[in-house]
Parts: sequence; structure tokens; C-alpha cells
Amino acid sequence: MPSLAELLTHAREVSSRDQCAALDRDDPLGALRAQFVAPPGVIYLDGNSLGQLPVKTATRIAQVVTGEWGQGLIRSWNDAGWMDLPTQVGNQIARLVGARPGELIVCDSTSVNLFKVLRAALALWLAANPAKPQDTAAPVVVSQPGNFPTDLYIAQSAAADLGFELELCDAAQLEPRLADPNAAPVAALVLTQVDYRTGAIHDLGHLSACAHAAGAFAIWDLAHSAGAIPVDLHQADADFAVGCGYKFLNGGPGAPAFVWAHPRWVDKTRQPLAGWLGHTAPFDFAAAYSPAQGIRHYLGGTPPILSLTALECGVQTVLAAEPLGGMAALHAKAQGLTELFIRLVARHCDRHELELLSPTDPAQRGCQVSLRSPLDGYAIVQALIERGVIGDFRASDVLRFGFSPLPLRYVDVWDAVMELARVLDSGTWRDPRYAQRHAVT
Ligand SMILES: Cc1ncc(COP(=O)(O)O)c(C=O)c1O
Repeated sequence: MPSLAELLTHAREVSSRDQCAALDRDDPLGALRAQFVAPPGVIYLDGNSLGQLPVKTATRIAQVVTGEWGQGLIRSWNDAGWMDLPTQVGNQIARLVGARPGELIVCDSTSVNLFKVLRAALALWLAANPAKPQDTAAPVVVSQPGNFPTDLYIAQSAAADLGFELELCDAAQLEPRLADPNAAPVAALVLTQVDYRTGAIHDLGHLSACAHAAGAFAIWDLAHSAGAIPVDLHQADADFAVGCGYKFLNGGPGAPAFVWAHPRWVDKTRQPLAGWLGHTAPFDFAAAYSPAQGIRHYLGGTPPILSLTALECGVQTVLAAEPLGGMAALHAKAQGLTELFIRLVARHCDRHELELLSPTDPAQRGCQVSLRSPLDGYAIVQALIERGVIGDFRASDVLRFGFSPLPLRYVDVWDAVMELARVLDSGTWRDPRYAQRHAVT
């Protein structure tokens, strides 16, 4: 397998499409591309937003629909193992993020799961740190202004419910803020490990340790990490984590999310949305709530079986890389792809004042490259999409390109940059139709 150093050297030296094709021929992960449906004429650089459709998903969903639902009907809750799917798929995701079997479960959305863990953690913190009459400042939840908006909204609402405030610090200020003995006490640090806008990676272990030193819980959103970069929740000693199923896990539009609580906390917490499937014995139909042991009590309502089925197919496309080096190999390939993209953009689009927003150090970068343009970035992305190169735009000025290492080839990177150069050089993006905003950017 080529080492990361070799991949990066190749990226530096590539000056032709043929060289990219040669890199693809040598790519030990190359065969895994066949796991995905590849629409003709499309270079898909948005797997960080919605992962590509795995080939086997449609067949598997059809089996579940026609066989398990159509023929098995309600018996399939027992006979087809539907009841176990949230833990079954959770155990597969656990392998990708350094959690142990039984610790991680699939349910709800990332937003809802973040609310559950944050409320649970804050209640635990309050129990351990009861308010004293001499307290002058309300305790806080710390996050970053650039965190994904849903995380900030959820943090605001969960914090306000229990009398906490949300305090936002830029990345460079997080560590000094957590270490400041004179500032308001911090109950929880809520961060997204890989920044959705820039792709910058936070050090999970270091910041979790800083949170702990401040007496705070470390709560991580792994939306852009799971299936993208190596994550080891236990090694990092994180407290809680949530993440998306539809991005690098390829689970399909609106796929359910996941939630993990460290075993030292899980049974000490009470998640706020007590639902019947989180009950210790849902089919006793008891009037009083009694939470199930372990992460199962983070379930609320009935699991979405069709979506869970699609998510399982998606997660398996990532697990297929395990014998080939797993997440380390996938991230190494993504670093090769992103490095190549950055270098080719620098070489072929140098007249257009594009600015690199993502970290220059590949090790600090998730599977994406973000560029900023003084021109109309939205229109440029739309013009690219019309030419089959699908990236996305994040307000106010970010052109975002995702590099899912499973389906993408080095030639795709070459072709995408050449198209970007053509769109910029020709000025076709200036056509007013590209400026018309769609609901989803
Ligand atoms: C970092 C991050 N967190 C959360 C979400 C939203 O998750 P959900 O829609 O599942 O609540 C996104 C969506 O893109 C995201 O990028």
C-alpha cells in the first residue's frame, strides 16, 4: 500500500491526467469504488453532505419491503430482527469510531441526539455541582461560533432550559478559556470534530482532556468524522458523541443518526426524551417509565426500519475497507485526493484569487477542501454542477468540495479541477441563471 508520504509526493508531482490514471491503477482501495452507483457524467464531490448510493442498497431495501414487510408483516419485528437493528447497525458504526459493542445506538437525528446527551450531561453536572448562594456567574456550555448551526441552536435551548448560558470561543481561544480559573464554570464543551465549513480537525483527545481539567463534559459531533477519519472515542476519553448517517456513512437522505455515551456515564444519565422503546420492558406497557440499561435508553420511538436498512448497507461500504487498512487507509487516500485538488487548483486556477480555507497540513484536514472566492461562489458552484461536477456552497462565500475516498479516483480530481478552471476562465458562471438560489445550496 502506498504510504501517506508517497501519496502526498505523488500529489505534488502530478502534471497530467495520465499520471492520475496511474495513481488510480495503484490504489489499493480502488476496487471499493464498485460498491457505488456512479451516475454517468458526474463527478461527485458532495459525499460529505449526502453520501453516494451503494449498489446493494436498492436490492436490500426491496427485500425488506417485499419480503420482510410484504410477506412477514408485523411478524418481522421478531422474525427479521427489526427490533435489534438500532444496536446491530450501532455496533457496526462503533467499529469506525473506537466505541465498544453495545455502547452506540442508531436513532433520531444528530440534532435530537445532541439535545439528549447535552441535557443528560448538564443534569449530571448540576447534581455534582449544586448552585451556591455566592455564585455570581451562571455556568456555561462552551462551543465555537463556527460550529454547525444546529449544534449551536440545540446547545442554546438545552442550556437555557437548565439555567446555563452558551459561550462561544474561537478555536484558538478554547484551551485558554477552559483553563481560566476566573471565568464562569464550564459544564460542557460541545464541538464538531471536523469543521463543516473548513474541514479543520480538532484534537479529540487533547480538547477532551482540557474539558475534563475544567470539570466539564466533552461532547463531540462526529458528523464529518465518522467514516471519514480515524476516531477512537475511548482513547480520546470523550464523554458523549453523536453523528450523522447520511454523510460519509452513505446511509441515504435523512438517514438516522447515532449516539454514544461513555460507559462510565451511560447509566448515570437520564436522557430527557423518555420514550417507550427506551423503557426497560416496552411491551409490559407499564404506566411508569423505567429506563433500559445502557445506551438503549437513548432510544425513544419506533426505529425507522427502511432507513436503518439503507444505513446498514452504507456503513458496510466503509467497513469493507477494514482488511485494507480501515479508516487510516481511507483518510490517507482522502489526504492524497485533497492534496492533489489543492495543488491542481493552485496551478490551474491561479488567476482567480481563490483562497484556501482548509488547513494546508493534510493531517489537520478532514475529507474536504473549502475555497473562498471574491467572485460569486454560489454561481460558480451552480455552473460546475451543470457541468457534472457536484460540490456545494456554504454561505457566505465558501465553495466546498468533499472527497469521499471510497468512490473517488484521482482522475476525478483532475477532471473536476479542469472544469473549475474552464468555468472561471470562460466566465460562464456570470450567466444570471446561476445566481438563482435553490432551497438547498
Ligand atoms: C456538523 C453537523 N452536525 C449536525 C448536522 C445536522 O444533523 P441532523 O440534520 O441529522 O440533525 C449537520 C448537517 O449537515 C452537520 O454538518
